[in-house]
Amino acid sequence: MNKGIFEGRQILITGAGSGIGRATARKLHSLGAELILVGRRLDKLKETLPKVQAISLDHSDQSAVEKFANQCGPLDGLFLNAGSFEAGSVEKSDLAIFNRMIDQNLLGPWNMAHFLGPNLQEGSSVVLTGSNVGIRVVPLQAAYGVAKAGLHMLAQYLAQEWGHRQIRVNAVAPGPVATDMLLDRIEETLEPEETLNNLKRVNPLHRIGQSEEIASLVVYLLGPESLWLSGAVIPFDGGAGAVQPN
Ligand SMILES: NC(=O)c1ccc[n+]([C@@H]2O[C@H](COP(=O)([O-])OP(=O)(O)OC[C@H]3O[C@@H](n4cnc5c(N)ncnc54)[C@H](OP(=O)(O)O)[C@@H]3O)[C@@H](O)[C@H]2O)c1
Repeated sequence: MNKGIFEGRQILITGAGSGIGRATARKLHSLGAELILVGRRLDKLKETLPKVQAISLDHSDQSAVEKFANQCGPLDGLFLNAGSFEAGSVEKSDLAIFNRMIDQNLLGPWNMAHFLGPNLQEGSSVVLTGSNVGIRVVPLQAAYGVAKAGLHMLAQYLAQEWGHRQIRVNAVAPGPVATDMLLDRIEETLEPEETLNNLKRVNPLHRIGQSEEIASLVVYLLGPESLWLSGAVIPFDGGAGAVQPN
């Protein structure tokens, strides 16, 4: 991609202090974008890119998001990527888990879209991070999967609502990616190595994804090379969705 391709473009990224958000922020920065990094932990945002504007904000806190949006300038892109994971079946997940999964993975991006929509300039691009778990059932990920399925639909509603302003909205739906979210969870299992190997076996490429790989797709979606792509939920899972688990 041409080095200055994002020059003059203002792009806000949530969850920019780690994993997929951090990799995307660094890639966009290297391509000339002007960024606003959002997450709850300011120190992590500063580690991503020390000289870039960083805002400590909980995206599930409606009044905080509204306040932020009121003083935020015009934007050319949004990467609504922040989220979190907790395991459990429908029967074993109590209401607190359900509420946290909805707040972190669906209400947060909803708030950001609701309050920052007016800041988006004509021709903007918006990307949301969903999950392959929001497309097909992976056992014991019920509340997370339900929230991510809702998030995919949020992307499609936004694509419809903002299309007349030439604003495109897409979701990426990754399979397992080597970030804190996944690696911490693996470490907590009885046999971390076996858990990791089992995850790898699910897809035909027999490995998990890397943040930088997801970032490449997100950058493509945010940029000028995907201008007729909107309303898509794109699986990014090493082919796992195409095959029966063995
Ligand atoms: N890793 C995977 O296997 C995988 C697979 C499919 C989808 N995803 C999705 O990918 C996205 C990025 O996750 P990741 O894998 O890069 O994991 P990660 O490193 O844990 O990143 C999640 C980020 O979200 C931020 N965040 C969480 N809750 C927030 C809130 N309430 N307000 C603002 N920021 C918040 C966190 O920062 P603070 O804690 O500082 O706020 C953190 O930087 C998530 O939506 C996740 O569901 C991940």
